[in-house]
Amino acid sequence: MKVLVVGGGGREHALAWKIAQSRRVAEVIVAPGNAGTALEPKVRNVPVAADDVEALLKLAREAHVGLTVVGPEAPLAAGIVDRFIANGLRCFGPRKAAAMLESSKKFAKEFMERHGIPTAAHRSFTDFDELKAYVESRGAPIVIKADGLAAGKGVVVAQSVAEALAAAESMLESKAFGVAGTTVVVEDFLAGEEASFIAMVGVDGAILPLATSQDHKARDDGDRGPNTGGMGAYSPAPVVTDAIAVRVMREVLEPVVAGLRQEGVRYHGFLYAGLMIGPDGTPKVLEFNCRFGDPETQPILFRLKTGLVDLLDAALDGKLGKAKIDWDPRPAVGVVMAAGGYPDKYRSGDEVSGLPAAPLANAKVFHAGTGRDASERIVTRGGRVLCVVGSGRDIREARAEAYRLVHQIRWEGAQYRTDIGYRAVARLAE
Ligand code: AMP
Ligand code: GLY
Repeated sequence: MKVLVVGGGGREHALAWKIAQSRRVAEVIVAPGNAGTALEPKVRNVPVAADDVEALLKLAREAHVGLTVVGPEAPLAAGIVDRFIANGLRCFGPRKAAAMLESSKKFAKEFMERHGIPTAAHRSFTDFDELKAYVESRGAPIVIKADGLAAGKGVVVAQSVAEALAAAESMLESKAFGVAGTTVVVEDFLAGEEASFIAMVGVDGAILPLATSQDHKARDDGDRGPNTGGMGAYSPAPVVTDAIAVRVMREVLEPVVAGLRQEGVRYHGFLYAGLMIGPDGTPKVLEFNCRFGDPETQPILFRLKTGLVDLLDAALDGKLGKAKIDWDPRPAVGVVMAAGGYPDKYRSGDEVSGLPAAPLANAKVFHAGTGRDASERIVTRGGRVLCVVGSGRDIREARAEAYRLVHQIRWEGAQYRTDIGYRAVARLAE
């Protein structure tokens, strides 16, 4: 069978790498892929953009693709799954109507309210004066979110009313996020520790939770600096104890899938709940993503022992409820190496050196924003360039393994955090 992976980031490199390990898979096509996917055995890049649904459909038909997995949110929000299913193709991901859980924060918040799913109190606004009155009545800290997709950058956790109003004003009036900013969601600040809880949902509504993880969204050490798409992640996240995981399934994921079904929407695909775990262990939803996380995918799939293709097939055949999933008990840490300037305007085209020549037992470099220049050198082509994953007997060893490799890799202006996994390391010390 041939499998198509849609996307070109670190998540898609990890998906393609894992899928290519299946003996049932003859070839993995990645559209558009990156310099890392091009190097994997059995993997081939095709230069079709991840959001060009019609070109992807043509590619899948002409190449006789038996299964498609969609990485990023844009093609999901554009209805790629509906188009593929309508053409008789197997495609793992939510339909457009279900992808609204991610593509509209307003929809997600109102959906959670309707179904009693725990989340911060909120209101949505299109009018600045009404928003101002509400923000003043709630006080700070308070959170301002642009409705719609803004690549993880449409959220401001404001420490003062003035900061909140300035952020809201720029989203509403200067349309800093384009159409994404025409509605602004204001929500209460939640204290606690964040975790990513990602599951696979089958066509019959069965939910298979994957290993837990935590990502680091802020650019700088100590979770400071601007928000990014994610500067690193590790798995498992010890903040999500077994008891909390049971609660998340019961209080969040099961009501989401059942609630959508009640509203006539069948969700299938990866489903990602971004959670704030309160000091008393109560999980509350910060956001939903209708896809696998990036960079969470990289450490999570590094730990997955079960064949991913078997799980994807089980989900699409309505057999996920009976599926078994095995994990390497050793933790994995993924450190993102980003281009200078990211998440703002960043450098591009810098040569990447020091990449390992042969596969390693306890580490793996997943590419994200990389490509080849005219003389075939591997160069930076995006904000997040690589995700270097290391695994070890405990989180500290896993982290050391990842950073050992990070320190060998170089390019002009490269930046990365030096503290990925610090909360889990602190727990270990306790
Ligand atoms: P989101 O894209 O909605 O997940 O928000 C991005 C980041 O902003 C989250 O990962 C949190 O760090 C932070 N954040 C969002 N909403 C809240 C909230 N209600 N309380 C505290 N922090 C939040
Ligand atoms: N790591 C957060 C995300 O994928 O949105």
